[in-house]
Amino acid sequence: MRIRRTLFTAWVLSAALSLAAQTNELVIQTKKLGAEIQPTMYGLFFEDINYAADGGLYAELVKNRSFEFPQHLMGWKTFGKVSVQDDGPFERNPHYVRLSYPGHPQKHTGLDNEGFFGIGVKSGEEYRFSVWARLPEGGTAGKIRIELVKTNSNAERQAFATQELTIDSKEWKKYQVMLKPDMTEAKSTLRIFLASQGPIDLEHISLFPVDTWKGHENGLRKDLAQALADIHPGVFRFPGGCIVEGTDLNTRYNWKNSIGPVENRPLNENRWQYTFPHRFFPDYYQSYGLGFYEYFLLSEEIGAAPLPIVSCGLACQFQNTDPKAHVPVEELGSYIQDALDLIEFANGDTTSVWGRKRAAMGHPASFHLKFIGIGNEQWGPEYPARLELFVKAIRKAHPEIKIVGSSGPDSEGKQFEYLWPEMKRLKVDLVDEHFYRPESWFLSQGARYDNYDRKGPKVFAGEYACHGKGKKWNHFYASLLEAAFMTGMERNADVVQMATYAPLFAHVDGWQWRPDMIWFDNLNAVRTVSYYVQQLYAQNKGTNVISLTMNGKPVTGAEGQDGLFASAVWDGPTHSYIVKVINTTDKTLRVPLTFAGLKRQDELTNGICIKLHSSDLDSDNTIEHPFAIVPETTSVSVYDRALDAELEPYTFTVYKFTKSAK
Ligand code: AHR
Repeated sequence: MRIRRTLFTAWVLSAALSLAAQTNELVIQTKKLGAEIQPTMYGLFFEDINYAADGGLYAELVKNRSFEFPQHLMGWKTFGKVSVQDDGPFERNPHYVRLSYPGHPQKHTGLDNEGFFGIGVKSGEEYRFSVWARLPEGGTAGKIRIELVKTNSNAERQAFATQELTIDSKEWKKYQVMLKPDMTEAKSTLRIFLASQGPIDLEHISLFPVDTWKGHENGLRKDLAQALADIHPGVFRFPGGCIVEGTDLNTRYNWKNSIGPVENRPLNENRWQYTFPHRFFPDYYQSYGLGFYEYFLLSEEIGAAPLPIVSCGLACQFQNTDPKAHVPVEELGSYIQDALDLIEFANGDTTSVWGRKRAAMGHPASFHLKFIGIGNEQWGPEYPARLELFVKAIRKAHPEIKIVGSSGPDSEGKQFEYLWPEMKRLKVDLVDEHFYRPESWFLSQGARYDNYDRKGPKVFAGEYACHGKGKKWNHFYASLLEAAFMTGMERNADVVQMATYAPLFAHVDGWQWRPDMIWFDNLNAVRTVSYYVQQLYAQNKGTNVISLTMNGKPVTGAEGQDGLFASAVWDGPTHSYIVKVINTTDKTLRVPLTFAGLKRQDELTNGICIKLHSSDLDSDNTIEHPFAIVPETTSVSVYDRALDAELEPYTFTVYKFTKSAK
């Protein structure tokens, strides 16, 4: 009798437990469409950190091509008789080299360029070598020999691609020749020999793959630009980040220096050269070869709304406590003018001063700029005092442009609390929030935006990433928590209108900051799990939020919600419902999805389930194993408007169904 009673109790208990499991039912209300999701919702943040521009997305393979680094021959090794001159043809880049006869027919004059951690070239591809040159003593036939060499080779010859160029004028002229290597080499050297007797002057020595993104000369690395396009980004922030501000105002990003002929764009110091002395890169400069024109063009080509951030006259506040480091409020005029001129450069018609410059570069049509950010991570009363003047001037000249202000470097706390009301007072359109935070923060912030003021400025989550505690590098669990947190952005799409993970790129040999979204070496690119998280959101962002609840509450990872985060959207053009669910726990969870409010004739068809999962929480994709963790798609069917989903531990799942009539 006692045994029977025990069995009965066990049965009741297990039935109760399974009932408890049933409470993970997610109810998706299909009847009413919620807030519109902005096309800008998920996008990109670009900053020239980690060799993201020169040595990265910008496809130039020669470092210090204009001899303007403070150590004029940095990146170069010279042999024979080479001297640096400073009266070259480009006013803002006056230095160049003179190659002279070494004094003996068996000796050689020339120079090697080391590229960015070597020069990466691929077998069978074409590379355009170009140079500005002249014969300083006149005459008609000087020669240089150009080679791609593998210096650590045991082969009979170090060179694996060779061409000659004849220099035929006393006047500066641009010359070019194609190199077609017959082997792939990640770390080759560019070698140039003086191949005739008289002296030859060389300036702006450049080597580009012909096969760049969209085939542009002065173009971008195709694989990296393609990775950006493949996200389907809605917005594209540029040029940063702290780089906007500069360590001092002289080294802030000056957009006007980044346009026009590349030969005459002056060099800028890159603050990420020395910001972290423990990751010091003395040869990190900005050629501005990837400048504002190239940025606007890329934005257009990948379908993202450009969002430039300009200096507000404050040098990096982390690095400058002396108020004299900043522009006094009453002297901000030229900075404000820079912002207005940038809008004109993007949108002005071809009769305007800056619109004409854009047209001269090859784009007479407007770039349709709609947003501008003033200042990066600024704080204190000195920021609103300056921002106010920008807001007034921009509103007056360009009421159509939306202005982004900043809430400082922290996701909460004193500055954040001070700046948000200030941003409301100044009536900016969006406020840039930054959060590089640990796991605990991401797990606790699922409801962050649920109670934000619906009447104030909108949110631009302009820089964020999960920085694992003691694990500040890319790994699956951190990315999973980013996905979990993003359900809260999506549910609050009436408030959060833009979000950009940061930073974007990192060279495996030259990084200063981790984690990053895309890693690369000289030949390959790797899309991290965080990349796929961003891509899954951007490609499945939908057009309207719809209500998704569990036991009547939004699913925010709150206590009693079994570590689940979820959101749902309707996508008008594809007529589909998209549900994102993240299981952040080590347990398999039964999570039935129920679609409420459908009409009798409605059917849910073409069901797919896209899953991003790894059983190794510390792993990520690498150059060696670029596809270790990628989204996997399977088909699923809904029975009776419900799907009995079972979520593996630590999984980000996207479900998508088309609504069709029977
Ligand atoms: O993304 C790296 C840096 O983080 C950005 O430059 C800065 O805005 C933030 O502090």
